[in-house]
Amino acid sequence: MKKVSVNTLHKLKAEGEKFACLTCYDALFASLYGNAGVEVILVGDSLGMVIQGHDSTLPVKMDDVIYHMECVKRGSSGSLLIADLPFMSYASEAQTLENAARLMRAGAQMVKLEGGAWIAESTRLLAERGIPVCAHMGLTPQSVNRIGGFLVQGRDPAQADKMIEEAKLLEASGASCLLLETVPQALARTITDALNIPVIGIGAGKDVDGQIMVIHDLLGISPITPSFVKNFLAEVDGSIPGAIAAYVSAVKAGTFPGPEHTFD
Ligand code: KIV
Repeated sequence: MKKVSVNTLHKLKAEGEKFACLTCYDALFASLYGNAGVEVILVGDSLGMVIQGHDSTLPVKMDDVIYHMECVKRGSSGSLLIADLPFMSYASEAQTLENAARLMRAGAQMVKLEGGAWIAESTRLLAERGIPVCAHMGLTPQSVNRIGGFLVQGRDPAQADKMIEEAKLLEASGASCLLLETVPQALARTITDALNIPVIGIGAGKDVDGQIMVIHDLLGISPITPSFVKNFLAEVDGSIPGAIAAYVSAVKAGTFPGPEHTFD
């Protein structure tokens, strides 16, 4: 696959072309993604739930993400590689810079942080030092205990307005892209239209610029499957490369997510 950079994502947004992203934790799957044309690979802290068997992402450590990033890097061919900064690894400025540098040395080309206005300064510091940032807003799983569960975010008009302002602030602070998780489709559309940077959605409806899914959800093997995911393996009679290709095609054609995967 032709090498995907942050500029590629900006160009795709400008041209109104959707792009496909998937989580990945090992070299073999990373190589399948390259063949299928998956533009973005996320080494997500979802690994705590789908690989390590925890009931949240909180136990994931920097060394875990680094290990999986190094595996993915070996198998990838062209996809843009994003790595999650795990829970409490960006609580102070010094920690943020040090840990983001560790992920970049392990092969990441961008780091993802969860939060709104409070990560604006970290975003600025990282961007100024050459580390692209994906800001993750909406349902932020590292804050599941404060939120009170894996719940839709931004249904309340005041919360929605705050999210729009925070998204603009993060763009102004230098974020290279934004990920929106589990928010109403109309709010995701408003934020996507308001920003120049690409917006990636999961449970955020079809109007964002790119879609992301956890690979275990796409294959229908996650112990808990949220309503916004789709089992693409069931559609293609058991071929994993076929399921990944079907997901990429559906995202690009705008047929996934459908109304049944979307929140009002
Ligand atoms: O960690 C992860 O896999 C994520 C996705 C849910 C987007 O952040």
